[in-house]
Amino acid sequence: MKAVVLVGGAGTRLRPLTFSTPKPLLPIANIPFLERQLHWLAGYGVDEAVLSLGYLPEAFLEHFSDERFGDMKLRFVIEHEPLGTAGGIRFAAEGINERLVVCNGDVLTDLDLAEFVTFHEARGASATISLARVENPSAFGVVPTRSDGEVIAFVEKPPRDQAPTNWINAGTYVLEPSVLSSIPPRLNVSIERETFPRMLEHPGQLYAMRSEGYWLDIGTPEKYFDAHLDVLAGQLGLPPTPTAKEQSPGVWVEPGAVVEDSATLEGPVLIGAGARVGAGAVVRRSVLGAGAVVGAGAIVHESVLLEGARLGDRESLDRVVLGDDVRLDVGGAA
Ligand code: GTP
Repeated sequence: MKAVVLVGGAGTRLRPLTFSTPKPLLPIANIPFLERQLHWLAGYGVDEAVLSLGYLPEAFLEHFSDERFGDMKLRFVIEHEPLGTAGGIRFAAEGINERLVVCNGDVLTDLDLAEFVTFHEARGASATISLARVENPSAFGVVPTRSDGEVIAFVEKPPRDQAPTNWINAGTYVLEPSVLSSIPPRLNVSIERETFPRMLEHPGQLYAMRSEGYWLDIGTPEKYFDAHLDVLAGQLGLPPTPTAKEQSPGVWVEPGAVVEDSATLEGPVLIGAGARVGAGAVVRRSVLGAGAVVGAGAIVHESVLLEGARLGDRESLDRVVLGDDVRLDVGGAA
């Protein structure tokens, strides 16, 4: 099975991190988000993924320079102007004439893709949308359905008290070739606002499946941080990384990290390869990337230090993401 992954957005809500690294390549607990997503797809037999690129395409080409992810073949398609979600899918799927899985490149999920495809097939759908339940749907596309899953309407970002349901478009789709060919080529088209609503004019085409699994859109700083703690808590059903060892409950340390005896690690915590935590420092509910440094006596609370970031002696961080190689040392000692 083939997949298209939409990774062309500029990720404006995660600036300044996304000025230099596109959102899908930002790490979640030390593994680039997109690698986590490709691993999930591969687990369901996806053997080829087309990455629909637009913003900072060279970062993806460098990251996956051998055009593979494990056994999965990767193809890159670069949009020279943003084509929106449907336009981007159409452009990326040029020449593909078979059923496709499509995912937004910013959704962390453990959706059962096999169950999703079976649901789609059983209904003879042209397109099926995965749905996630959220407490407050007002920032999302809300999707009420009939009991068999046929979509009734799309309600974009309703006021909280007017949302017809808490089930929202979770950003993973199965699409038949007929849907791809109905999208006008090389135009900016939104699948949520144009393609899917238009399909409602023809009953029996568009279905949606509710999934109670893990789902998080990592697109805001708060959610980006939450994704780290969720991964550390095992909410995706896997250890946070294949190589980290759990030294005590919730405290994960990669090989080569150096934590001074007098430092305190309060889980959930992940200390990356070659990272250093100085004497008397406290790291609590946080992630240190590879080679990150926390100075002596420093306090890191609910924060992420990306690769190579350095926090000086006796400095403190509280709900901050320190970008890669950023050095924070007000006292001048890092
Ligand atoms: P914000 O600017 O913070 O809203 O982030 P974003 O640019 O990622 O936009 P949004 O979260 O709405 O996008 C959802 C998914 O679609 C992300 O995976 C984006 O990379 C992708 N995306 C958005 N617009 C485009 C586009 O024009 N082309 C392609 N190929 N992908 C897009």
